[in-house]
Amino acid sequence: MVTKISPSILASDFSALGEEALSVQNAGADMLHIDVMDGHFVPNITLGAPIVKCLRSRVSLPFDVHLMISDPLKYIPDFAKAGADLISFHLESGADASQCVSLMENLGVQPAIALKPSTPGEAVFPYLESLKMVLVMTVEPGFGGQKFMDSQLNKIRLIRNECDKRGLKTDIQVDGGITDETVQKCALAGANVFVAGSFIFGSQNREKAIKSLRTY
Ligand code: DX5
Ligand code: ZN
Repeated sequence: MVTKISPSILASDFSALGEEALSVQNAGADMLHIDVMDGHFVPNITLGAPIVKCLRSRVSLPFDVHLMISDPLKYIPDFAKAGADLISFHLESGADASQCVSLMENLGVQPAIALKPSTPGEAVFPYLESLKMVLVMTVEPGFGGQKFMDSQLNKIRLIRNECDKRGLKTDIQVDGGITDETVQKCALAGANVFVAGSFIFGSQNREKAIKSLRTY
């Protein structure tokens, strides 16, 4: 599996969002992770489709949009139109997952499903064939800068084994508490797409930080 690094702009300086996104693009990132929170599915509010659209006009990295919202079905078209390349929605939102996935396929967006720490890995099995990626949250969604949860490693292993069994090359993304120290155990468990907010945006040398996640 190809390793991809997706810096989370949640940890960036929102007053200079364009420059922050360009800085990780120039530092060698593979994607840009955009955390959308609605203050309902999670207690925090971040940004919406108009901001994604503005970023799209300046940034060429693929946009990896992580919807932490209660009604993904309603908003997927807005984010697709704004320039999302891949969208993950939470299974726990209660939305009809098959409907969300086919909507994304029709809109030309790569579909992904995200799982909170308390959701078992098996929950994603019925959709695996149609997914580009599974996002395993390694912290409770809602805030950056939290501590990595080792308890999620078994879930990563379980999903990777199931993909292997079915001959699927599905990406497995980990999000939350990813650093040059936690990345290795995720990779060994079968993850290949690494989101990092604080670790990349908080480092003096973002290029070095991205490289250290790629080569762990
Ligand atoms: C948390 C978000 C993450 C967050 C990760 O709900 O989904 O993408 O930005 O932040 P770090 O890397 O600081 O844990
Ligand atoms: Zn995220």
